[in-house]
Amino acid sequence: MEQETKEFNIMPRIGDQAPDFEAVTTKGTIKFSEFAKDKWVVLFSHPADFTPVCTTEMSGFAQRKGEFEALNTELMGLSIDSIHSHLAWVNNVKQNTGVYFDFPIIADIDMKVSKLYGMLQPNESETAAVRAVFFIDPSKKIRLVMYYPLNVGRNMDEILRALEALQVSDANGVAMPLNWKKGDRVIVPPPKNLDELQERIDGDYPEKIDFYLVKKDL
Ligand code: BEZ
Repeated sequence: MEQETKEFNIMPRIGDQAPDFEAVTTKGTIKFSEFAKDKWVVLFSHPADFTPVCTTEMSGFAQRKGEFEALNTELMGLSIDSIHSHLAWVNNVKQNTGVYFDFPIIADIDMKVSKLYGMLQPNESETAAVRAVFFIDPSKKIRLVMYYPLNVGRNMDEILRALEALQVSDANGVAMPLNWKKGDRVIVPPPKNLDELQERIDGDYPEKIDFYLVKKDL
């Protein structure tokens, strides 16, 4: 069978400006370009309200909202459900578990935003968004993208770790090694000229495999 691509083939990529949109959310109508000025945004989709995996994920975002705030980051969710469904689900989870989804959730009933962000991947589902996560920096540039299928929930530790890795990398002009977490050594960028090459060879670094793999403490 031919794979479905047309109409759904917009996939914003790392380095692209985040597409702008205006949408109805659980916190009122929001124009994305005016949302969270000078902050990072984690924009994520879930397949459907009142479903089990999505409820665990949304609860995870809600319970760790303070950690996102500490990283100067606002959350924004999305699914292809009506605002009425969103409101009922938010209220239901609050009543059942005490967890309150206190961030905007887009009611993308016309699929406008899902299509703009490549969240609707029709060979997985034609009617539900996949589990996407867009990490968007304060200049509204997309810096990291995750896509998960309908049947596997995301990992909140990894979402927070990746967000912090991006921010620490930006702030210090360094790269982050495998499994980097706060407090670990970071990678000094590989040399781009002979002077830098010599500096990496001669420099006093706590960890050096060779000139191209040098780590330092921050
Ligand atoms: C869930 O969140 O449990 C779910 C949603 C859509 C399809 C499959 C699972």
